[in-house]
Amino acid sequence: QFASSLNFRGFQFAQAMIFAVEEINNSTDLLPGISLGYKMYDTCGSVARSVRAALALANGNEAVSAPSEEQCTKPAQVQAIIGEASHFATCACLSDKTKYPSFLRTIPSDYYQSRALAQLVKHFGWTWVGAIRTNDDYGNNGMATFTETAQQLGICLEYSVPFFRTDSPDKIRKIIDIIKASTSKVIVAFLSYLDMDVLKHEMSKHNMTGYQWVGSEGWIFDSQTAETDRHHILDGAIGLSIPKAHVSGMREFILNVKPLNSSGHEIFTEFWETLFSCKFKQSESSTGNERECTGHEDLTGVQNGFTDMSLMPIFNNVYKGVYAVAHALHSILGCNKTCQYKVQLDPLTINFKTKEGDEVYFNQNGEPPAKYEIINWQPKENGFVDFVTVGLYDASLPADKHLKLQNNSLVWAQNSKQVKCAEGEISNTTDSVTCVRCQPEFWSNERRDACVKKEAEFLSYEEIMGVLLTATSLFGTCMTVGVAVIFFRHRKSPIVRANNSELSFLLLFSLTLCFLCSLTFIGRPSDWSCMLRHTAFGITFVLCISCVLGKTMVVLMAFRATLPGSNVMKWFGPVQQRLSVLAFTLIQVVICILWLSISPPFPFKNFKQFKDKIILECALGSALGFWAVLGYIGLLAILCFILAFLARKLPDNFNEAKFITFSMLIFCAVWITFIPAYVSSPGKFSVAVEIFAILASSFGLLICTFIPKCYIVLLKPEQNTKKNMMGRLSSRNLHIFTYTY
Ligand SMILES: *[C@@H]1O[C@H](CO)[C@@H](O)[C@H](O)[C@H]1NC(C)=O
Ligand SMILES: *[C@@H]1O[C@H](CO)[C@@H](O)[C@H](O)[C@H]1NC(C)=O
Ligand SMILES: *[C@@H]1O[C@H](CO)[C@@H](O)[C@H](O)[C@H]1NC(C)=O
Repeated sequence: QFASSLNFRGFQFAQAMIFAVEEINNSTDLLPGISLGYKMYDTCGSVARSVRAALALANGNEAVSAPSEEQCTKPAQVQAIIGEASHFATCACLSDKTKYPSFLRTIPSDYYQSRALAQLVKHFGWTWVGAIRTNDDYGNNGMATFTETAQQLGICLEYSVPFFRTDSPDKIRKIIDIIKASTSKVIVAFLSYLDMDVLKHEMSKHNMTGYQWVGSEGWIFDSQTAETDRHHILDGAIGLSIPKAHVSGMREFILNVKPLNSSGHEIFTEFWETLFSCKFKQSESSTGNERECTGHEDLTGVQNGFTDMSLMPIFNNVYKGVYAVAHALHSILGCNKTCQYKVQLDPLTINFKTKEGDEVYFNQNGEPPAKYEIINWQPKENGFVDFVTVGLYDASLPADKHLKLQNNSLVWAQNSKQVKCAEGEISNTTDSVTCVRCQPEFWSNERRDACVKKEAEFLSYEEIMGVLLTATSLFGTCMTVGVAVIFFRHRKSPIVRANNSELSFLLLFSLTLCFLCSLTFIGRPSDWSCMLRHTAFGITFVLCISCVLGKTMVVLMAFRATLPGSNVMKWFGPVQQRLSVLAFTLIQVVICILWLSISPPFPFKNFKQFKDKIILECALGSALGFWAVLGYIGLLAILCFILAFLARKLPDNFNEAKFITFSMLIFCAVWITFIPAYVSSPGKFSVAVEIFAILASSFGLLICTFIPKCYIVLLKPEQNTKKNMMGRLSSRNLHIFTYTY
């Protein structure tokens, strides 16, 4: 990242601290008569060295890099340690006062930042996002809080992956693959700028632009990250940054390197050489390739990490930190002339205003109040990026006022002015910053700029399935009518008469109704069709089965009668048959009337099954009603099946009972398979399944009961004689034949 081992950032932080110390020493109000001194160590970005320096400061062991014979017995030499990054350390883990009792910071905890990020994501209506975090305490803690808050706010995370700049290429490729395979276009990145640099580089290799980035303060206001984003991977990024700050005199102080020069610091040579990319003649590392330093180089034309003041908010944090120490000392030492050197800083007592008017105080966790600026990366014509402040987040305000976005225009990923809205949401005005959820009957279009009416789904006469079912139903009706006509024309013939012609015609009539009632299931559901559907079907089916039951009982009773010639048919003559059919049907009619009067079925718009379609269906009203109607049919069918099964071997006319058994078998099979299919099929398919069940069982009855007879009537008229009929019957059964004849 840097041209040399000299880190300008660290240098700037050091300058900021010196500035604060000098200002305090120059001041007559704060710590009058007392000069603050300081000692500075270079941690070289290494955690181990920072810890060693901190321990050395606390113990008074001066020799940090070279161990000395002196023992570490001195009392603490310093009252406070600024650093290594207390002005920059945001991890919520550091709020644990049992672990870090003496740690204070001038930057808010990520406890707030994570929540603020989740609220920001929610604010823009992004409900489907991916997440990447630095695989360390910063990222893991930050993301854990974000995830928790996001879930509460109804934001779904498609993926959440840890990443570290030193990860193997394999691991990085996996992360890239996850992002590529994802459908979410918004990525929440809780990354340090070092990790973001690596990730950004990797993504530009894969040309992965167009993602909307939401960033933590770790990288979002890092100007170097923005400058090196040549492939515009991060354009339109939005995120939280430490509020911009101005400390008068600080910039000039940092850039004023003359005192360094005159004081003869060792670091000066290296610093000067790095700053102006030149070499002093006497310098050991001089290779002769670079130009020579004169010592009078001018900083005005130079643009590099040293002159970049974008980290001013952090310098301000350093500044505030030094001032906090001074104010604490002031209150302890200056309280009374008799104050003792019992330097126990109590963070709660520190409360002062900087000269810029910033109020500085710490809460019980040793943290400042959480305030963030919301910044948006807006690409400029020249290829550079502007960090535009578009809003504020202030956790000290009431919860509903935390997030405040200004009305200036935002730029989103790929320079689009539109918000990326989730499915079912739109943003209809250009530059609008929020997504609006479409009404339940509407859905967002592809471009997410208008709500379009959802497609209504129902089984219509226009689609192929509806046409086929209608045709089948009409065919069944015609076939039934055809059979009825044949039977009517041959009504005098023995076979028709022997088959209990009255029940036969009633059965044909009810079958016609059965075929027709399937038509009520097709078409847009209305109040009437919904009420008619199940009731019409329930009643006609019961009528149908009652007729079959009547026929079966006639056969069974006649043949099972113990005494030949005993007048069993007196007990189940035509009147009784009619009455039984009527009674069975009436029960169903009563069930249907109860259902319709208590809680009738009604047309219903189902928004839940599919998100982009409305299913128009009939709600059952009362599920009990529906299952009572079906259950009653099932009961009669099973009764009919059992009786027909018992009668199947009886030598009645043309094995009628056998055919009835068979048709009832079809009937039961169809309806038993219908129930699971009905419960599990979505939308119009459950209707189609029901129609199919109705048609299949109607055809089963029609074909098994009537077609064999039609065959004889039409094609084998020689068998259709009284004599032939009689011949088939034993004398024992003659009476029933003669009776029905
Ligand atoms: C402190 O005072 C000295 C002497 O007046 C001055 O040179 C220096 O710039 C001052 N420092 C700050 C930070 O104001
Ligand atoms: C990257 O994408 C842009 C537009 O999407 C395209 O013009 C360019 O050729 C791509 N570059 C590579 C290396 O795939
Ligand atoms: C200052 O010290 C005197 C005596 O030592 C004591 O009586 C007085 O209360 C102290 N004042 C404050 C403000 O603590």
